[in-house]
Amino acid sequence: MTESFDSVVALVPAAGQGMRLGEGMPKAFVDLGGRVMLSRAVDGLLRSGVVDRVVVIVPEELVDSTRTMLPADVTVVAGGSERTESVRAGLAMVDGAQYVLVHDAARALTPPSLIARVAAELRSGRTAVVPVLPVADTIKTVDILGAVTGTPERSELRAVQTPQGFTVDLLRRAYDEADDHATDDAGLVERLGERVRTIVGEPTAFKITTPLDLMLARALVEEGTP
Ligand code: CTP
Ligand code: MG
Repeated sequence: MTESFDSVVALVPAAGQGMRLGEGMPKAFVDLGGRVMLSRAVDGLLRSGVVDRVVVIVPEELVDSTRTMLPADVTVVAGGSERTESVRAGLAMVDGAQYVLVHDAARALTPPSLIARVAAELRSGRTAVVPVLPVADTIKTVDILGAVTGTPERSELRAVQTPQGFTVDLLRRAYDEADDHATDDAGLVERLGERVRTIVGEPTAFKITTPLDLMLARALVEEGTP
């Protein structure tokens, strides 16, 4: 499928194993109040009104079942063992679009309004945009033995969320240079020397990583977060 010149494609990496969550299945397929995380994440993208096409990247053995679970116009491809490989597999399906949003399935409760704000920044001429929040904890750097090597000034630190937005050309260039262990798409763009802009993120765009995160997500769904 060929997208029009100014269209927005969303890539949804959902091929991780969810080891830290420990539910015994790939995390994107864990139930969150009657619907799996991946289905909620895709729904948020579609409800944002700014996404023309969605490409989800799942473990190879789940490609067929994911196709039956999601709307027919969502593209489903197999990912790899590292997130970088999964995003690369999604990027290979992008054809002719101007902008790309990379959005973790694990941020299943991300408000559609945040997705729309990232896309609006791209349309206004930014080439790389990430939602961020201040960090609550003081952060320390440590060496391999656990000794503290530094305390970065907290006011300069931000926790980064998704969706991260890029022009397709820039993300392609970043992935052409990428090694296999990156967990942050914007980090790859930074390595090219390109400027990445931040916008204010949303607390409910948190990544469901640990059992405690899942409890919080289920409580939010229970009390009516869509
Ligand atoms: N992801 C992916 N392919 C991988 C690894 C991760 O598509 N090989 C996706 C995950 O499915 C998730 C997002 O990238 O939506 C963020 O990754 P993370 O939270 O680390 O998820 P997992 O890798 O599944 O979790 P863990 O690291 O605890 O195993
Ligand atoms: Mg991971």
